[in-house]
Amino acid sequence: MSTARLADSTAIVTGAGSGIGQAIATGFAREGARVACADIRAERVRATAERIRTAGGEALAIAVDVSERSQVETMLTLARERFGNVDTLVSAAGISARDSFLDVTDEDWDRVLAVNLKGLFLCAQVVGRHMAERGRGTIINVTSQLEGVAQPHCAPYLASKGGGRMLTRGMAVDLAASGVRVNALAPGLTNTNLSPRDTEEGRRYTAETVRHIPMGRPAEPAEMVGAALFLASGEASYVTGTTLVVDGGYLAI
Ligand SMILES: NC(=O)c1ccc[n+]([C@@H]2O[C@H](COP(=O)([O-])OP(=O)(O)OC[C@H]3O[C@@H](n4cnc5c(N)ncnc54)[C@H](O)[C@@H]3O)[C@@H](O)[C@H]2O)c1
Repeated sequence: MSTARLADSTAIVTGAGSGIGQAIATGFAREGARVACADIRAERVRATAERIRTAGGEALAIAVDVSERSQVETMLTLARERFGNVDTLVSAAGISARDSFLDVTDEDWDRVLAVNLKGLFLCAQVVGRHMAERGRGTIINVTSQLEGVAQPHCAPYLASKGGGRMLTRGMAVDLAASGVRVNALAPGLTNTNLSPRDTEEGRRYTAETVRHIPMGRPAEPAEMVGAALFLASGEASYVTGTTLVVDGGYLAI
């Protein structure tokens, strides 16, 4: 019998073209899951799926905008056509926008909320209906350490992540009787394309945040995989409606 923790299961991972989603997709495949890798950036997500297949895993690449219901429905259809039933959904697609609150535009507000919050809702509802029909499944919403505390110049992002935290709780309560668990994974500062390292302001932001991290450094995307694996696996069979924070101690002080 296989000792892989996600053997004989199927996962959909959004945001799998880069960063945390890519690390989780790759990590889940290593633990035996068949992974539908979804992202708005088709080329990047094809590369993730290719990397998984080269390492001997099973993967499918799907181009999707998580803020569009019809595309999310197609994502589920494609994943099911290839792999059958879906056991795990990880919603890691996300964007940021940095501006002082009084300068935030309607466009920035709408886009950040559409991807980070409506995207969570759409993916979880579409895939959650399928899971509820089967009476089993687990959903992991990637939020942020900023789901409960603020930082300057990212009010729409904070609103989306705080919303993600409460959406996760609401979903968990509504789906518990159907056998579907819903949790949030809240990363701290992580070295990905989301952290703006290529601008002066970005470097200032990173240095300032690191000053407040007891472990004294950002995370690498691979350091998010263990927490996601735990939430997805049977080891978390009684865990629902909670947030697992992986932040190097940022929220402890
Ligand atoms: N990097 C950090 O410091 C950090 C900290 C806390 C939380 N997070 C969260 O982790 C998640 C992953 O971010 P990351 O750091 O890996 O960033 P990233 O930019 O490396 O990856 C995000 C991925 O989401 C995809 N995406 C964006 N909009 C999409 C859409 N509409 N539909 C489908 N895919 C879309 C992007 O193409 C990209 O591949 C996000 O929700 C982010 O808010 C990141």
